[in-house]
Amino acid sequence: MIAHAEPSSKPTSFEVRILRQSGPGEPGRWERHRVNYEPQLNVISVLQKIAAQATTVDGESTTPVAWDCNCLEEVCGACTMLVNGKTRQACSALVDRLLEEDPSGFELRPMSKFPVIRDLMVNRSRLFQALKRVHAWIEVEGYHEAGAGPRISPQEQQRAYPLSECMSCGCCLEACPQYNNVQGETNKAARSTDRTEYRSAAEYGTAVHTELRDAIRKQEEPNLRPEVSLLKTLQETGELPREDRTNYGKKGSIRVDVLENTETGTVCVYDIKTGKVNLT
Ligand code: SF4
Ligand code: FES
Repeated sequence: MIAHAEPSSKPTSFEVRILRQSGPGEPGRWERHRVNYEPQLNVISVLQKIAAQATTVDGESTTPVAWDCNCLEEVCGACTMLVNGKTRQACSALVDRLLEEDPSGFELRPMSKFPVIRDLMVNRSRLFQALKRVHAWIEVEGYHEAGAGPRISPQEQQRAYPLSECMSCGCCLEACPQYNNVQGETNKAARSTDRTEYRSAAEYGTAVHTELRDAIRKQEEPNLRPEVSLLKTLQETGELPREDRTNYGKKGSIRVDVLENTETGTVCVYDIKTGKVNLT
């Protein structure tokens, strides 16, 4: 039962349902907490209040919920979790807005595409490894005197700068429902392809890509299409694209390994790499 404060329409308290997990691979369990309403709370400050209470809604003592955060201003991505089923940063999830949607409270879960370390804290290290592999940063940054520094071509700057803007939050992986499926098929394709049988990394890469393409085709998932060729954008080519899809190898086209059109309208692009270090 929710008690309402007068004359405001805000509740005097609200419930927070949290999916907890005591460690990697452990089963999840739901825990309910009641928190007194205050204006301008965000989800992180609610978690701090819950840690201080250390008691569930049923009056049982409990351990503090584990979560990750750092910048508290939607810059580092560390606090990303599922708030009412939507992936977002907890530090910018305002309780007043959440209570407008549902005055009884809200639900918190860890992201589902990363291994859970504990409660709402997940291991995003594979994101960082992938960014390291594609060298997703610009070499010289900051205002300090660092000498002449390495020369970077304008083309290289254009490639690296958008990548360097990624804050490694993981939202994009969470928003692509087929991510685990495509990653699983990629791993299978890599395991069933013996690198030593190929004369070059390029030949090995083609073999893995072919294996993945066939596996995705076999699934006959209407939202998932392997090896789609798209025309590059106006920004990239300086020409207006004349059609949405095109043939492989056509001038100005780009090949996408797997394309997913989700129910929400999000388009997910899966690009597998078989290069220097590992398969991603
Ligand atoms: S690219 Fe993905 S991981 Fe990087 S900031 Fe955007 S949503 Fe987050
Ligand atoms: S704490 Fe950095 S984005 Fe939320």
